Amino acid sequence: MCGIIGYYGQHPASKILIDGLKRLEYRGYDSSGLCLVEDNKLVCYKQAGPVTYLEGAIAHQDLKGHIGIAHTRWATHGAPNEINAHPHFDCHHQIAIVHNGIIENYQALKQLLSSEGHVFTSETDSEVLAHLIEKFYTGSLEEAVIKALALIEGSYGLVALHVNENKLVAARRSSPLVIGIGQGETFIASDVPAILNHTKDVVYLEDGDLAIIDEGGYQIKNLAGEPLDRRVEEVKLNIDQIEKKGYKHFMLKEIFEQPQSLVNVLAGRITNNQIKLSLNWHREAIERIIIAACGTSWHSALIGKYLLEEIVGLPVEVDYASEFRYRHPLVNNHDLFIAISQSGETADTLAALREAKNHGAQSLGIVNVVGSTVAREVDSGIYLHAGPEIGVASTKAFTAQITALLLLAFYWRQEMGYKIDESILSELRHLPAVVEKTLKANGQVIELARRFMNFEHFLYLGRGLNFPVALEGALKLKEISYIHAEGYPAAEIKHGPIALIDDNMPVVVLATKNDLSDKILSNIQEIKARGGQVIAIVDQDYEVVKKLADYLISVPPVHVWFSPVINVIPLQLLAYYIADAKGLDVDKPRNLAKSVTVE
Ligand code: F6R
Repeated sequence: MCGIIGYYGQHPASKILIDGLKRLEYRGYDSSGLCLVEDNKLVCYKQAGPVTYLEGAIAHQDLKGHIGIAHTRWATHGAPNEINAHPHFDCHHQIAIVHNGIIENYQALKQLLSSEGHVFTSETDSEVLAHLIEKFYTGSLEEAVIKALALIEGSYGLVALHVNENKLVAARRSSPLVIGIGQGETFIASDVPAILNHTKDVVYLEDGDLAIIDEGGYQIKNLAGEPLDRRVEEVKLNIDQIEKKGYKHFMLKEIFEQPQSLVNVLAGRITNNQIKLSLNWHREAIERIIIAACGTSWHSALIGKYLLEEIVGLPVEVDYASEFRYRHPLVNNHDLFIAISQSGETADTLAALREAKNHGAQSLGIVNVVGSTVAREVDSGIYLHAGPEIGVASTKAFTAQITALLLLAFYWRQEMGYKIDESILSELRHLPAVVEKTLKANGQVIELARRFMNFEHFLYLGRGLNFPVALEGALKLKEISYIHAEGYPAAEIKHGPIALIDDNMPVVVLATKNDLSDKILSNIQEIKARGGQVIAIVDQDYEVVKKLADYLISVPPVHVWFSPVINVIPLQLLAYYIADAKGLDVDKPRNLAKSVTVE
C-alpha cells in the first residue's frame, strides 16, 4: 500500500523516479509526488491522481537533481488530494519524507509538535515524521531519524532526505523496503519492479533496519546505530514479466498466464508419482490446521479447508487474518498455522502469523512474492512461482494457491503412508492444459458480458468446494466493475436472499457435475420458479442443467477437487469483460491497492 522509490547516483533522478513510481502504481494511485535536492534546495512536485499527472507536471521542467525520493499514495489518513500527497516536509522545507504505513500515535505526536510551534499543512499521519525529524535535527539526519522513530507507534517504510546532506536515510518496520545496488548508483523502493530496469542485485531490509544511502553506496544499521550485515540477493524476475505484452490490461494478461503459472507451481513437485515438498515441520504433532488470509487468498483458504479435511482428515479452521489477530485465538503447539498471501506483505496476515507463532504453532506460508516478509517468517513454505501479479484484482495467484493447497494435501496424505491414485496425479499434472482449454472458450463469456453489463446486482451460488468459488466470482465482479454482487452457498438462498430474486437479478450458478449436483439442480429450479435469470457454469456433457439454465458457460469436466481452478476462470473473465465493456480502469479499480500493508 503506497509505493516508495528513492535514488542516489550520477543520473538526473526525476525520470528514474517517475518510471519507478509507474511500476509501483499497483500499490496505490490516489496521488503522487517527488522531491529532488538541487543546489541546496528541495525541488518538489505533487499531483492528485495517477503518476502520469505528475509526469505531465514536470515534463517541461529542467530537473537536474541526482538525489531524490518519490511516492505514489493509497490514502489512509486524509483525502486523496495534492496537499496530502507525499513527500511531506518540516516547517522550513529542509527535510522531506515519503512514508508507507500508519503512524498509530500521530494525533498525540501532532498535538505535542503543534504545542512546540510546528505548523502542519496536511491531514496525514505521515507528516508528523517530517516534523519529528526536524525536532531532533542537530546536523545529522541519521541521528534525527533514529530519535524520531523511537517515539513512533505503528508501521513504516520511510525514506528521508535533508537539503544539506547528500544522503537518503531509510527505515523499515512492517512495511517493505528493498535496496537496489547499481553501478555508482543506489536505489531504494517498496518493491523490486520499481528498480528492475536498473539492477537485479538487491538487499531486503528487515524490521528495525535503518539504511543510509550516499556516495559510498549503502550501509545498514540497527536503530541503535550499530552496523548490520544483510545478504545481497539476485532477483530472478525479468523485466518482460512485468510488462503488458500486448494485452489491454495486466488483469487480462494474468488470467491468460494461468496455464504457465500452474506449470510453475507444479514444477519439480511431482516426480515418479510422488509429491515432493520440502517442509520443515513436525507432522506427527499436528492435530489441527488453522488458515488465515485476506480477500481472494481467504477464498483459497476456504477451498483449502474442504481439501485438507477430506484428503488429510484433520480439522481445519479458516479465519480472516484481521479477525484472528484480535480474537485471542486458542492456539497451541499442536496447531499448524497456514498463512496464504500473494504479496506476503498483507499487514493482517503477517500479524496473524506472528500471533500464532507466539502461541507456539508451527507455521507454513503459501506465498507468491519471493523474499516477502511472510515468506521469511514462516517455518516452511510453498512458493507459488506464479510470476508477478500486477493487476489489482488477484487472478493467477488464486488458482496457484489452490494448486499449492492440493499439493500440500496430497503430500501430507502420502506422508501418512497412503498412495495417491495415479488418475488423480495425472489430472493434477494436466491441470495447466485444462486451464488452457477453458481459456480458449472465452468467446461465450464475452457475449454474456455484453448482455449483462448494465445490471446492477448479481448473485453467485455454489456448493461444497465451489461455494468459495462463488465468493471469489462475486468479489472479482464488485471490485473491478463496481456492480454489487454476493456469493452464497446455494442452499442458503432459501434463508433470505431468495427474496431478492426477480428478472433484474442475474444468478451465476456453479453447476459442474459432482456429488452435490442434484441439490444444485433443485436450487436452479427454485430460482427459475421466481423469474430469476440463471447463468450456469456447466461441464460440457451435463445435459440436465443445460435445459434448465437461461445461459450456459461450458468448461471441461474435471475431478471435483480440481473444479475450483477450472470454474473460477469464466468468472474472472466475466468480471473482466464486464468492467472493460463499461470502460473502467480494470487494473486500477477505485479505492483499492494491490498490497494492503496497513490494517
Ligand atoms: C482481490 C485481491 C485482494 C487480495 C487481498 C490479500 O482481488 O487481490 O482481496 O487477495 O488483499 O492479498 P495477499 O494475497 O497479497 O495477502
